[in-house]
Amino acid sequence: MIPEQVTIVTRGIAELRPRLEEIADDFYRRLFDRHPELWPLFPTDISVQRRKFADELEMIVRAIPDFGSFAERARHLGARHAGYGVRVAHYAHVRAVLFEVIAAALGDGWTEEAEAAWRSAYNLITEAMLLGGAPPAGRRRLRGVR
Ligand code: HEM
Repeated sequence: MIPEQVTIVTRGIAELRPRLEEIADDFYRRLFDRHPELWPLFPTDISVQRRKFADELEMIVRAIPDFGSFAERARHLGARHAGYGVRVAHYAHVRAVLFEVIAAALGDGWTEEAEAAWRSAYNLITEAMLLGGAPPAGRRRLRGVR
């Protein structure tokens, strides 16, 4: 990620922060509507879900300015996600819905540039998480392609 992209994502999250409850509700409504199979993975308590959503965004914002120091934590986070039952394809489902709600919330602020910056941030974190969450054979394979 280039520094301008880090700024775009960091500013975007700062703008979303005061409306996080409403955005989180929108996110889960759309996610479970489109992918009902994901519902059992999450806690049923909506306030816990909102907290998780906020944690996820905070994690992204903390990760990107210094990805090197975050990479190890991202791997542990990915391993926990594998334990929650999260599979590789789910990352793309979540990204599509997340970007939709962020686009709706940011309005004109969701430019092509903003989308590219968010995509880089999300993909970077996802890759690190998947390395942590991959079963040993998959991990070896992933290492092999690098
Ligand atoms: C950029 C990608 C993501 C980030 C940064 C992220 C971050 C987090 C964080 C910080 C937590 C709190 C618990 C913990 O630290 O282990 C969490 C929990 C969780 N995440 Fe994610 N997550 C991401 C993607 C996903 C995806 C793709 C799914 C798939 C549906 C998912 C499903 C869950 C579930 C089910 C929990 C557990 C909720 C609970 O039982 O309390 N996450 N996530």
